Amino acid sequence: MSDTIGITTDALLTTDIPSLASERMRRLPPYLFGTINRVKDELRRKDVDIIDLGMGNPNDPTPKVIVDKLIEAAADRRNQRYSSSSGISGLRKEVAQFYQATWNVDLDPDDEVIATLGTKEGFSHLCLALLGPGDVAITPTPAFPIHIYGPVIAGANVIGISMGGGDERLLSNLDHMCRNLYPQPKVLILNYPHNPTAHTVELDFYKEVVRLAKQFGFYVIHDFAYGLTTFDGYEAPSFLQVPGAKEVGIESLTMSKGFNMAGWRIGFFVGNPDMVRLLGDIKGYYDYGIFQAIQIASVIALRHCVDDMREQARVYENRRDVLCTGLERAGWQVTPPSGTMFAWAPIPEPYAQMGSLQFAVQCLQKAEVAVAPGRGFGEDGEGFLRIALVENEHRLQQAVRQLRRAFPL
Ligand SMILES: Cc1ncc(COP(=O)(O)O)c(C=O)c1O
Repeated sequence: MSDTIGITTDALLTTDIPSLASERMRRLPPYLFGTINRVKDELRRKDVDIIDLGMGNPNDPTPKVIVDKLIEAAADRRNQRYSSSSGISGLRKEVAQFYQATWNVDLDPDDEVIATLGTKEGFSHLCLALLGPGDVAITPTPAFPIHIYGPVIAGANVIGISMGGGDERLLSNLDHMCRNLYPQPKVLILNYPHNPTAHTVELDFYKEVVRLAKQFGFYVIHDFAYGLTTFDGYEAPSFLQVPGAKEVGIESLTMSKGFNMAGWRIGFFVGNPDMVRLLGDIKGYYDYGIFQAIQIASVIALRHCVDDMREQARVYENRRDVLCTGLERAGWQVTPPSGTMFAWAPIPEPYAQMGSLQFAVQCLQKAEVAVAPGRGFGEDGEGFLRIALVENEHRLQQAVRQLRRAFPL
């Protein structure tokens, strides 16, 4: 049902941590994707053309109108000073309008919106602001690594609830934990459409989460990174659409994925004013805000690039079709996702026993295709590969051919 994640003995035994590392660093297991990256770099040094479907790093360009605005704003000396740590007011207002137009959610731009240097930064600092030794955070597993290690770095204990049994089971396990755990969970971390599994939920799921949060007094952080990257007419609900959600939670939205702005480092946290304030307070100690020209360019993105963003989602949808149809024809069993930029594929049966790390290494060595091993997302990810849709359709077809040749079924 559930398992405590974090520091496995095995992981610690195999880590070569310099002695000057803090106790905090010692709580972190070795970076599993490092093994894959090493093999990838080795092959690239030998001029092997790796088709890289490993990382969720968007490969298409940022819309030109956003880049043009950045160039113009960067040249203005008023934008070259430190900016406001929580984001300029024009940007926070634009985010509130975007939420209103997209999800019919009302936000006060002054108290309920904050800009962050990407949502990974915002999430990590929010964990430091909310969690410490003795606190418990809960997250569905498998999980995007920072959803586990953000709380771990903050000193908290993390408990995973397996997603394997379905949503109802997950909610009933959550209820069970809230009744029986001591200390009671303080924070629940959610992320739908989900990385790595691409699982999606409907609004009723969040309604039940809000009800439980109110009943048991925990707070919710919902990572909505793929809220704008959905397919086949599916529209991902915002957690904040549930009446009363703002009393118990906060949601993050990144510019990285929907707007192809991953390198720009900008995202937002919106919702519960106390959580927004705490995040702003801790960020006030750590940083001076996002380069103002990037914030100004992001206003243009949110105001004028909704069509580009929707077009980008269609690009991922078409790539999904190419990848999933190709893999199915090759004998793989993969469910086409209705959101995110990933396919979550079980390792084909004859190769399953080698485990996901070993199989991902073989995908590199034998098929010259980089994928992420499911084990990198926790024990519940074992047996799967995460395949990112970050190469064009032609390259994806090529990847499928190479995988089929390397792993006959
Ligand atoms: C679920 C999820 N959250 C957050 C991020 C990071 O987003 P950002 O670029 O805003 O830090 C990613 C990136 O892969 C992600 O998959």
